[in-house]
Amino acid sequence: MAASGRARADGRRTIFITGGASGIGLATAKRFSREGWFVGFADIDAKGLMAALEAIGAANGSTHRLDVRHRSAWRAELAAFAKLTDGRLDVLLNNAGLARGGYLEAQSAEEVDLQIDVNLKGVLNGCQAAFDLLCATPGAMVVNVASVAGVVAPPRMAVYAATKFAVRGLSEALEAEYARVGVGVRCILPWFIDTPLLDKARFSGNEDLRVSLRHQKVPVYPVEEVAEAIWRSVHGKGLHHLVGGQARRIGFLNRLAPALVRNRLRRQVEEM
Ligand code: NAI
Repeated sequence: MAASGRARADGRRTIFITGGASGIGLATAKRFSREGWFVGFADIDAKGLMAALEAIGAANGSTHRLDVRHRSAWRAELAAFAKLTDGRLDVLLNNAGLARGGYLEAQSAEEVDLQIDVNLKGVLNGCQAAFDLLCATPGAMVVNVASVAGVVAPPRMAVYAATKFAVRGLSEALEAEYARVGVGVRCILPWFIDTPLLDKARFSGNEDLRVSLRHQKVPVYPVEEVAEAIWRSVHGKGLHHLVGGQARRIGFLNRLAPALVRNRLRRQVEEM
């Protein structure tokens, strides 16, 4: 499907955001748009896409119906975006993702496949499809949204954590690979963030993740904190960026005493 809306980037810097219709993607779009960037919103949520573009003003971006699992759709939508930006893609934000909790044996084959296909293969598809555009844009960058679950893996989120570990590993490998073509790589590792994702995921069958976290008094950080971290990562240095005080504490402790961190997480999730 071709890009809707007629706005053109007209020399502005550009960012293409998957999962742009909600949560972290939308907050990041607003952050970059405030600084004068042109935003390509990509998502499967058609209504959400229209609302997202409206939120930053139709002159400041374009919408793209894109399921990140489909390689041909990636090619078509990036080509449509490039027409609006004269071939410029400064940042590809691979952000679309979802979480399904529960013990592995209790997850359906569809839930397992969906998490792997969107959270991991979607990122691989994006990096492959965008490669030529990124190479053609001086100073371009790929930003992959993983999770602190890509650093320490909580029980009852095994598949989700596996995909996020994989995205962290992929980011490390790509940072080295892309150095030869001058494309940067950033990997964002947020703690729990206040987005609709928390209402769709659950550790157990009884309550959604947001309620479980509240019962356990687990901190949840505002979405703007991730948007700010992404903005800073693009304008700063370093591959991995932990977001939220708790993520930074766990990341630090995990380097010193990984078994302690694992046991603590295990106890915490078991009480949920
Ligand atoms: P969200 O549920 O608010 O937004 C996710 C967006 O991705 C939605 O607009 C959805 O329609 C879109 N999406 C889902 N499947 C798609 C597909 N196949 N193709 C294209 N778009 C698709 O969730 P949130 O929290 O903003 O999540 C964004 C990223 O941040 C995800 O990768 C998630 O794993 C990660 N993350 C979220 C955390 C949180 O606590 N909310 C913590 C750490 C990482």
